[in-house]
Amino acid sequence: MLAVAAVALHPDSPLDGLDIGDRPEPTPPDGWTTVEVRAASLNHHDLFSLRGVGLPADRLPMILGCDAAGVTAEGEEVVVHAVIGDPAAGGGDETLDPRRTLLSELHPGTLAQRVAVPRRNLVPKPAELSWEEAACLPTAWLTAYRMVVSRSGLPAAGGGSVLVQGAGGGVATAALLIAKAAGHTVFVTSRDEDKRRRAAALGADAVFEPGARLPARVDAVIETVGAATWGHSVRSLRPGGRIVVSGATSGPNPPAELTRIFFLQLSVIGSTMGSRGELADLVGFLARTGIRPPVQEVRPLAQARGAFERLAAGDVFGKLVLVPG
Ligand SMILES: NC(=O)c1ccc[n+]([C@@H]2O[C@H](COP(=O)([O-])OP(=O)(O)OC[C@H]3O[C@@H](n4cnc5c(N)ncnc54)[C@H](OP(=O)(O)O)[C@@H]3O)[C@@H](O)[C@H]2O)c1
Repeated sequence: MLAVAAVALHPDSPLDGLDIGDRPEPTPPDGWTTVEVRAASLNHHDLFSLRGVGLPADRLPMILGCDAAGVTAEGEEVVVHAVIGDPAAGGGDETLDPRRTLLSELHPGTLAQRVAVPRRNLVPKPAELSWEEAACLPTAWLTAYRMVVSRSGLPAAGGGSVLVQGAGGGVATAALLIAKAAGHTVFVTSRDEDKRRRAAALGADAVFEPGARLPARVDAVIETVGAATWGHSVRSLRPGGRIVVSGATSGPNPPAELTRIFFLQLSVIGSTMGSRGELADLVGFLARTGIRPPVQEVRPLAQARGAFERLAAGDVFGKLVLVPG
C-alpha cells in the first residue's frame, strides 16, 4: 500500500529522511482492527519524528502520522484516537500510562492507505463532519481541547480570558476556536501579519505581534511555542493565573522566570493529548457548536512532500490534510 514513512533521521534537515512509496499492509493483532484511511492530517509531531525526537533509529522505517478518519472492515465510520495506552495503568487516563505511545512512535502511523489500531481507539465519526475535518481532531484539536477545557482553570460557563501564542499552528487555531465557542475572551499572537488577520477573522478578540503588551492580564495562556514566547506568557498572566503548556516548537529551554512565577503565584500546567473519552467529548462539542477545523490545504497522499515542506517552513494556518483516494 502507499504510505509516507521516515526512513532516516536528520535533526537539521528532516525532509531528507522522508519516503513516499510502497509499504507492507498492516497486520492487526488480537483486539485491533484495520481502518481504511479516508483522510489523515499532518502535525508538527511528524517533523519531530523525522528529526529523531521520540523516534529512535532502530524503529525505522516507520510510517508517519498520528491522525486519521476512515472506515473499519466492519463498515463503521470512525475517528482514530492516536494514544495507545491502558487507562487502568494511568489511574483511569491512558495518557498517564507510563507505557503509552502514539501511533507512528512504536506502531505504524496513519499517513497510509490503511492503518491498524486497537478497537478501543475508535470513536464514531458524526455525519456533520467531513472526512478532512474529522482527520484534524485526534492530535492538535484533542490537545487544544484538554488544554482549554480540562487544564486551564477557565470557568466552564465562559467569561474567562486567555492568550493563545502562535496563532497559525494546528493546536493554536483549535485553542482559539474552542475557547471562543466556550465563551471566553481570546487574545492571540503570531509572527506573521497575514496569520494575525486570519486569526481575527476566526474570532480572536484582539491580535498582537509576539511580545506585545496586552490590554489586560489574562487568566490563562495556551503555550505551544516554547522559548520564543515563554517570557511573554509569564508576563501576560494575572496573579494566580495558569500557563498550560503542551509544546516547545521554538526550543524547550526558555528562561525560567521563577521570581514572577512564585511572587504572582502562577501555575505552570503540562498537558499532553487527551483520553478517548475527551476525543468523544470533542467530537460532540464540534457537532453542538458548529465550529470546524480550518483546513488550509488538502492534497493526495502521493504529494505529501509538498505538505511537509509547508509545515517545516511554518507556512500553515490551521491544518494540512492528505487523502489516499
Ligand atoms: N504534548 C502534546 O500532546 C502535543 C500535541 C500536539 C502538538 N504538540 C506540540 O505543540 C507544538 C505545535 O504543534 P502544531 O502541530 O500545532 O504545530 P504547527 O501547526 O506546525 O504550528 C507551529 C507553531 O509554532 C509557532 N511559532 C511561533 N514562533 C515560532 C518560532 N520562533 N519558531 C517556530 N515556531 C514558532 C507558530 O506560530 P505563528 O507562525 O503563528 O507565529 C505555530 O503556532 C509542537 O511543538 C508540537 O510538537 C504537543
